[in-house]
Amino acid sequence: MFDVKRFIEEQLAAITAKIDGKAIIACSGGVDSMVAATLASRAIGDKLLAIYVDTGLMRKGETDEVREMLQETGINFKIVDAGDEFFSALKEVTDPEQKRKIIGEKFIRVFEREAKGFGAKYLVQGTIAPDWIESGNGVRDTIKSHHNVGGLPKDMGMILCEPLYDLYKDEVRQVARFLGVKASERQPFPGPALAVRCLGEVTPENIVIVREACHIVEDEIQKAVANKKMEMPWQYFAVLLPTKSVGVQGDRRAYGRTVVIRAVASIDAMTATYSKIPLDVLDAISTRITNTMKAQVNRVVYDITNKPPATIEWE
Ligand code: XMP
Repeated sequence: MFDVKRFIEEQLAAITAKIDGKAIIACSGGVDSMVAATLASRAIGDKLLAIYVDTGLMRKGETDEVREMLQETGINFKIVDAGDEFFSALKEVTDPEQKRKIIGEKFIRVFEREAKGFGAKYLVQGTIAPDWIESGNGVRDTIKSHHNVGGLPKDMGMILCEPLYDLYKDEVRQVARFLGVKASERQPFPGPALAVRCLGEVTPENIVIVREACHIVEDEIQKAVANKKMEMPWQYFAVLLPTKSVGVQGDRRAYGRTVVIRAVASIDAMTATYSKIPLDVLDAISTRITNTMKAQVNRVVYDITNKPPATIEWE
């Protein structure tokens, strides 16, 4: 059994002992980073600065939502607008591992800059067990380089502090509930964000499409859960494929993009089963996506693979 109280006491002592001076924390607003931020802030108070990087790859309304959440916690925080930097670094890149490495490095360069400005030597991260297990680290195969582990550059000029390193997501949620962290029930969202849901090149135009599609999937599934049509999935989103297919609009030929609906049930993200979304909900999602983005999307498909053999995200 996971002892939440003991874990918190031990980590508060460990953070206090490790951090000598100031620290910044990489804070995306997800449950992992919000728990790490809460623990670090309880341990070192005003010597902590939370940095939220607006990569331009976040979901609809996410930056405002995270700003409000951080304001409520009373933790010192700063929002850094780095969209242009991320998009130019990702220009013409299509390989998933290369995308992850570039994003991991960009995050660190932004954090290094911010740490210097704040006078901090330490970087706190909400890394959890699946992040480093899937990243490989020589002992295991690399499934994918999580941005905060396998995506870290070798010449990083900060000392890492990772209080949640050995936990799985369900344990992090238990800690979050105990600490009263508002993000406790937020669905997981990958650090490389919509970049790994946009197969092929990550351009501002492609991100606009996948952002709207993700919003529609989230909204329709949340409505279906509220109406007791289905169980709340562990994670649910849209993926934009780079290929085009032929369609018809009115009496005209269309040649547009495909959006995938992905929803899974899981306990720890190490394995997952696809969620059985009722047909009328799939229908509502498909109609709304193709009506909202008539000029861009003419096909919607439903991913019915488990993990393994697939993974939860497509990249
Ligand atoms: P996969 O797609 O490998 O993902 O089945 C397992 C879980 O991890 C999330 N994920 C990430 N989270 N940084 C993160 O913080 C990453 O680079 C990353 N890649 C995947 C994914 O959304 C799922 O919940």
